[in-house]
Amino acid sequence: MTTSETPTASTAPELSGTETGAAPSSAPRDFPIQRGCPFAAPAEYDTLRTHEPVARVTLPTKREAWVVTRYDDVRELLSDPRVSADIRRPNFPALGEGEQEAGAKFRPFIRTDAPEHTKYRRMLLPVFTVRRVREMRPAVQARVDEILDGVLADGGPVEFVSAYANAVSTSVICELLGIPRENLEFFRDVTRISGSRHSTADQVSEALGGLFRLLAGLVAERREEPREDLISKLVTDHLVTGNVTVEQLLSTLGITINAGRETTTSMIALSTLLLLEQPELMEELRGDPSLMPAAVDELLRVLSVADSIPLRVAAEDIDLSGRTIPADDGVIALLAGANHDPEQFADPGRVDFHRTDNHHVAFGYGVHQCVGQHLARLELEVALETLVRRVPTLRLAGGPDDVVVKHDSATFGLEALRVTW
Ligand code: HEM
Repeated sequence: MTTSETPTASTAPELSGTETGAAPSSAPRDFPIQRGCPFAAPAEYDTLRTHEPVARVTLPTKREAWVVTRYDDVRELLSDPRVSADIRRPNFPALGEGEQEAGAKFRPFIRTDAPEHTKYRRMLLPVFTVRRVREMRPAVQARVDEILDGVLADGGPVEFVSAYANAVSTSVICELLGIPRENLEFFRDVTRISGSRHSTADQVSEALGGLFRLLAGLVAERREEPREDLISKLVTDHLVTGNVTVEQLLSTLGITINAGRETTTSMIALSTLLLLEQPELMEELRGDPSLMPAAVDELLRVLSVADSIPLRVAAEDIDLSGRTIPADDGVIALLAGANHDPEQFADPGRVDFHRTDNHHVAFGYGVHQCVGQHLARLELEVALETLVRRVPTLRLAGGPDDVVVKHDSATFGLEALRVTW
């Protein structure tokens, strides 16, 4: 879907014929279900949660799967050891044929099970601890200021997703890994193609192949001459010691870039649009910057950009909310469904920076819960705080195509956001 108008929580048009809020039928409904408003889960998730919390759907690949919308069910499912994330399983519920085939070939560890999954996750965990990420704050702040200086110097209007949101998320991950950041749009294109439901397996393989060629060159360089970056650390600690092969290392680096870039880009862009649409929230943050950490978590909950990232297969029969998900069936834990469950969050559609007990699942839950979540929070805090403080006159550019929403990607977000100041 694209919108050329400015959608808001209250005025956004219903964008999908499937989103009627009608009583559920027994025939599997098509999935994904488009959002009517970019700042909320699709209205149909409410209907499903009430009437059919474990529902059968047909995916774009024509495979069938189950979707789960209740908060308690999503957490139970994602922490159930009888659930598999192995993309090689025949009924794995990938939303695009390209993702399914390429995933089975490149085996990103997000789509594997223990003990394989544990091995790669453990390689990354020490880099993303709260303490290590806290140490990165000055560097992230410097990068964000530099990017914003460039945007302001060029003058508006500007396409914000590319000029700021993508520039921040990609620069930070490149700096952490030790990748020269001259080609920010290259990384955006790789994720755009590999994360699109419409991409063929060949297109996904080609996009990831380009990324792996770049990474392979850097791995070879760091093997000769290690530096102070993540690639060097992984090469020294895990490649040279024989813990992983070059292919396994490239796959781990590739998924870290892909998982960390697109999600953070989407969150920066959508959060900015939401703050422009609800200026009282922008004012609240400008008046009290100490609210920023709580605000970031509330925005993560409300926007739930990684809604349908947790794809699984039931390895055994699993009972959930009165239904049995049979062994070998695919199942998707809908994070936006859980994060908008009124049983868990009072008035879930309201953005409330003072919400207490905000135990959202925007980063997933269980053994695959986001490895980079502390870094993501840091990036969002710095990117939004700097923008709110330094550009008080920020506004939409005023053209008919200011906001273009992206619906065909694994991560929900904006394709374009035109702003001026
Ligand atoms: C706002 C930004 C982000 C959101 C909303 C997000 C969301 C998620 C979610 C929902 C999962 C779990 C997927 C599942 O259960 O199948 C996940 C996993 C993962 N994320 Fe993030 N993420 C974000 C940022 C990042 C960043 C900045 C990095 C790294 C630099 C990162 C790296 C990863 C990795 C490597 C995994 C796989 C973990 C595993 O399978 O054990 N993410 N993320």
